[in-house]
Amino acid sequence: MYAAFRSVGSYVPKNVMTNEDLEKIVETSDEWITKRTGIKTRYIADKDESTSDMGVEAAKVALERAGIEPSQLDMIVCATISPDYFCMPSTACMIAKKLGVANIPAFDISAACSGFIYALAMARSFVESKTAKNVLIIGAEKLSAIVDYTDRTTCVLFGDGAGAAIIGATENENEAIIDVNISSDGNYYDYLITPGCGTNRPCSGETLKEHACFMKMKGNETFKVAVKTLTNDVVEILKNNNIESSQIDHFIPHQANYRILNAVAQALKLKDEQLVITVGKYGNTSSASIPMAMNDLYEEGRLKAGDLMLLDAFGGGFTWGSALVPFAPRKTS
Ligand code: UT7
Repeated sequence: MYAAFRSVGSYVPKNVMTNEDLEKIVETSDEWITKRTGIKTRYIADKDESTSDMGVEAAKVALERAGIEPSQLDMIVCATISPDYFCMPSTACMIAKKLGVANIPAFDISAACSGFIYALAMARSFVESKTAKNVLIIGAEKLSAIVDYTDRTTCVLFGDGAGAAIIGATENENEAIIDVNISSDGNYYDYLITPGCGTNRPCSGETLKEHACFMKMKGNETFKVAVKTLTNDVVEILKNNNIESSQIDHFIPHQANYRILNAVAQALKLKDEQLVITVGKYGNTSSASIPMAMNDLYEEGRLKAGDLMLLDAFGGGFTWGSALVPFAPRKTS
């Protein structure tokens, strides 16, 4: 049994936040943000809109495109660092409830910006081992709830949104996900961190005063490791599978910074049309960024059956991952 990437969907909240809006909140400028990151806008969820609300909307699109009813799902995996609830219940359980599904495994993955590729690795394993036939994977984030809007070094970077995909069983080897590689190095745990309000430093007046429940990043240091790791990771997965970068139809990296994406694409000698860039529009949406970018490609009519996608992600932990995935849309009913 093989695992096929059947469909993609996404959800973008309606409130746009421009660089000019941020200029009114912190000491920054459209010029700085554009030059250093390529970001122009990001989208922000409503106050009463949760991560699972966005995940459900993305999931409905992916389910519809795969021709699958929620009742046909065998498993739901949600990657997120901004869950609806601290500790429990999982966002995946909330998504299952909102889809009207029960009595299947539903769980979250915490792998920061690499979360979607970690979820893909899980889904692939469960399908290939014949434990599941249809797995819904989701990357969903309400990062605006964990961003410190007094910290200009992080607040200009992040946005909200969700992406989802259906991974289904197939006996057709041509449809099979070719390879997924995931890894981590916890020695860098404090480069990207929410230092407070976990069990290490429980929520208290002090942690709240220090804004310790918000994301902190050693941006410049993270940038350097990100470029190196993202490049090595894709070079390795291509080599291991005897695939040339020229054979890739779409390189869809995690959308953190335009300069990072360009550096990796140049190292791989990719043509402009192979590189998918949405960071300018959405900012960094962590685990949601890859499926959101893929969804845009699909809706633009540029992602066709049989196209070979190369996915590449890097994030807090540090975690990273890459995947070689043929797009294999097929309605089951
Ligand atoms: O998604 C997970 C992985 N994340 C990443 O891979 C992100 C990696 N990092 C980055 O993308 C970049 O490092 C940033 C975009 C976060 C920052 O860009 P940078 O070129 O590395 O800038 P920097 O941190 O070295 O800061 C340069 C200057 C500093 O001022 P001084 O010390 O040179 O006077 C900062 O204080 O820019 C200043 N600065 C800002 N200025 C205006 C930092 N943030 C801002 C801001 N507006 N928003």
